Amino acid sequence: MAQLEFGEGIVRQLEQAYRGRDMARRRGLVRAALGAEPGDRILDVGCGPGFFELELAAEVGAGGSVTGVDLSAASVAVAKQRSAGHQNLEFHEADATALPVADGAFDRAFSVQVLEYVPDVDAALRELRRALRPGGRLVVWDVDWATVSMRTEDEARMERVLAAWDAHLTHPSLPRRLGALMRAAGFEEVGMDAHPFATNELSGETYGGFLVPFVEQFVGTDEATAWADEQRALAEAGAFYFACLQFCFTAEAPR
Ligand SMILES: C[S@@+](CC[C@H](N)C(=O)[O-])C[C@H]1O[C@@H](n2cnc3c(N)ncnc32)[C@H](O)[C@@H]1O
Repeated sequence: MAQLEFGEGIVRQLEQAYRGRDMARRRGLVRAALGAEPGDRILDVGCGPGFFELELAAEVGAGGSVTGVDLSAASVAVAKQRSAGHQNLEFHEADATALPVADGAFDRAFSVQVLEYVPDVDAALRELRRALRPGGRLVVWDVDWATVSMRTEDEARMERVLAAWDAHLTHPSLPRRLGALMRAAGFEEVGMDAHPFATNELSGETYGGFLVPFVEQFVGTDEATAWADEQRALAEAGAFYFACLQFCFTAEAPR
């Protein structure tokens, strides 16, 4: 199965999901880790539909700027629409491993649930380091998909469905290696935090609730639909359960 493609249909679905409660909480955690200040120049690698940019524009103020980069033309188009009228936001269609930005141009950079899709993570980290000024702050957030825990009466079927879902990205458990990769790329003061996303609510407001139909659609088999039907039945009975761990890495570019 091929990796998930961020075409127009998927980007619109993600845009809807990113309005949900869990995604807003996640952006809050990332922004707290980033610690933006008025006047900062901020880079977002893999900006998706551009929710972070509007929130950060308010934090950096008119004297700062936020630059979003994404490989997907559809994401960049949606992000540009969302930010229309803001002077200090800009977007580029480009790969994380070849950023169209000058050396040392940013005070802070972040990349949320993106490096897990990038085959050459080392190259992406080198680019982030190049883009940051000496002492600049980096925040990288990724999911360890092996931590997904859900209720089911058919463990073998769920294992097959979630294994098929793992093909939607290149590195299903990147957080296990990310700290070491960041150090190898020359970053200093590397720190790691884990945040649980757990819910009993199968709805677009929650990370797990959004994932069920998204996984069903990506895997696209009768078995995946049977699994998703089971999850919907559990939800109707008040018995839906989802949990996973997401990881927030922080670091400093060398001075
Ligand atoms: C799960 S979305 C996350 C979007 C955004 N960071 C957020 O959290 O709201 C992953 C994004 O990474 C982008 N992406 C995947 N591979 C990329 C690459 N090699 N270079 C740049 N962006 C990439 C996708 O196009 C998609 O917009």
